[in-house]
Amino acid sequence: MGWLDGDVALVTGGGSGIGLAVVERFLAEGCAGVGVMVRSPQQGTDLRARFGERVVVVEGDVRSGADNQQAVDATVARFGKLDALVGNAGVWDFNTRLEKMDLAQLDASFDEIFGVNVKGYLLAARAAAAALRASGGSMIFTLSNAAFHAGGGGPLYVASKHAGLGLVRQLAFEFAPQVRVNAVAPGGTATALRGPASLGKGERRLTDIPNFHENVASAMPLKLIAEPADHAGHYVLLASRANSRATTAAVLRSDGGWEIRPI
Ligand SMILES: NC(=O)c1ccc[n+]([C@@H]2O[C@H](COP(=O)([O-])OP(=O)(O)OC[C@H]3O[C@@H](n4cnc5c(N)ncnc54)[C@H](O)[C@@H]3O)[C@@H](O)[C@H]2O)c1
Repeated sequence: MGWLDGDVALVTGGGSGIGLAVVERFLAEGCAGVGVMVRSPQQGTDLRARFGERVVVVEGDVRSGADNQQAVDATVARFGKLDALVGNAGVWDFNTRLEKMDLAQLDASFDEIFGVNVKGYLLAARAAAAALRASGGSMIFTLSNAAFHAGGGGPLYVASKHAGLGLVRQLAFEFAPQVRVNAVAPGGTATALRGPASLGKGERRLTDIPNFHENVASAMPLKLIAEPADHAGHYVLLASRANSRATTAAVLRSDGGWEIRPI
């Protein structure tokens, strides 16, 4: 008996990192199937090899409304319904400060970061809305400690995750009472989160930063850097109708205690 027995989910950015941990855990909790939206063909190949018929993989760009719709349609076509949307695909800005960007970079990287982190969530929600209203399901978005605090990125990333918080609240309002809308806010996590191509950091990974693990762990009251799987149970809890029936517009923080860092 799992907490998500027979449910069907769709996870964007589920080919790596936190999204992949959510796919794995949702299947372990009894999901009948999971749709996964990925950016790279290799991620699709790996997912099919690992999970077989229990996943349906759609390659696409979350900035495209048509690609999001295709991911929802493919998931519903294969598994018959949709109970949970996990909007998760994201890009970081490698702490790039405002004055470090020339105007052309600022223009292009705003479009890229807000395109993925904010518009991508809006388009996924728009595409999944009808199926989730029909099932009485829920949406869960990956935010960040940068949705609440400065310093978890530069102005573009921090503003995009703050925008995500507003989006969760507004969508929770618009979709009640049929659909619950919640979020998980991780802190520093050992993943290969990329930067924006528009800043020349499309191939750079978070974990390429020298001493990343040590620096994150020493900044956290819990003195740890999270692994993707450390957050996955929060998504299960929020997706579970039996355990979160009365919860909407909530953000579960999974950030090692960022809020209680000493002055
Ligand atoms: N790693 C951290 O320290 C951390 C902390 C807080 C929040 N987050 C958030 O967690 C989420 C997942 O990131 P992660 O850390 O697991 O890194 P990740 O790079 O492993 O996951 C992000 C996924 O999004 C996909 N993606 C990026 N742009 C896309 C696009 N245009 N279309 C489709 N897919 C796209 C990537 O291919 C990748 O699979 C992001 O929203 C990120 O902002 C990460």
